[in-house]
Amino acid sequence: MTNGKLRLGVNIDHVATIRNARGIRHPDPVRAAGLAVRAGADGITAHLREDRRHISDDDISTLADVLTVPLNFEMAATEEMLEIALRHKPNACCLVPEKRQELTTEGGLDVAGQHNRLKHFVNELSDAGIRVSMFVDPDVEQLDAALSLGAPVAELHTGAYCEKTGEARLEELERIRAASKYGFERGLEMHAGHGLSYDTVTDIAAIPELMELNIGHFLIGEAIFHGLETSIVEMRRLMDEARV
Ligand code: PXP
Repeated sequence: MTNGKLRLGVNIDHVATIRNARGIRHPDPVRAAGLAVRAGADGITAHLREDRRHISDDDISTLADVLTVPLNFEMAATEEMLEIALRHKPNACCLVPEKRQELTTEGGLDVAGQHNRLKHFVNELSDAGIRVSMFVDPDVEQLDAALSLGAPVAELHTGAYCEKTGEARLEELERIRAASKYGFERGLEMHAGHGLSYDTVTDIAAIPELMELNIGHFLIGEAIFHGLETSIVEMRRLMDEARV
């Protein structure tokens, strides 16, 4: 059994990065979200970081009010973020690790190592009707921990796959394939994301157990050259082609 159509979640964080470089309202990530939906995004993903380096509290509030597709709210497992998530009730919350000094989310969440601490976050979000996703490296131990917490979704970190080359990349692809199958067979809805581009998306999109990819930085960068809609349409095409 496999999942049918692969969903595309467009991450709009870096529209906010450009806006914040000037401290004004343009470009507006909420407007970008509307455009992304028109271009074929199945959902919108946004990460409210502790340091608010890109997405702001107001962005989340507006997105939660106006979006016509599911909002996937990426958050660190902190009391502050939990309170914000419970206030806005997005469709999904993806728990991610966060370090102040990092440029981006460098690895998956250590669910296995923080099992007891994370339980409260998974329970509170789930009780509020929010689908909880755990952003993890493609490791069986992490998927087992996500399962034992009762999280319905796991998102596999594809960053290492995208950065590696040659044999090392193929090995990482194998890890992602095996983890997708392992999680799916045990009832997890499997997602993947981080670092994906036109060059790297095909092999990941071809993994039949995956149900959703979350893609941001490459699409926003590519939008500079070809526009956001064209870039999303092309990504969507590559994803659909990989499934045939
Ligand atoms: N999925 C998760 C959980 C992430 O944290 C990110 C980055 O914010 C992405 C997907 C998208 O990664 P990228 O911006 O590199 O496409």
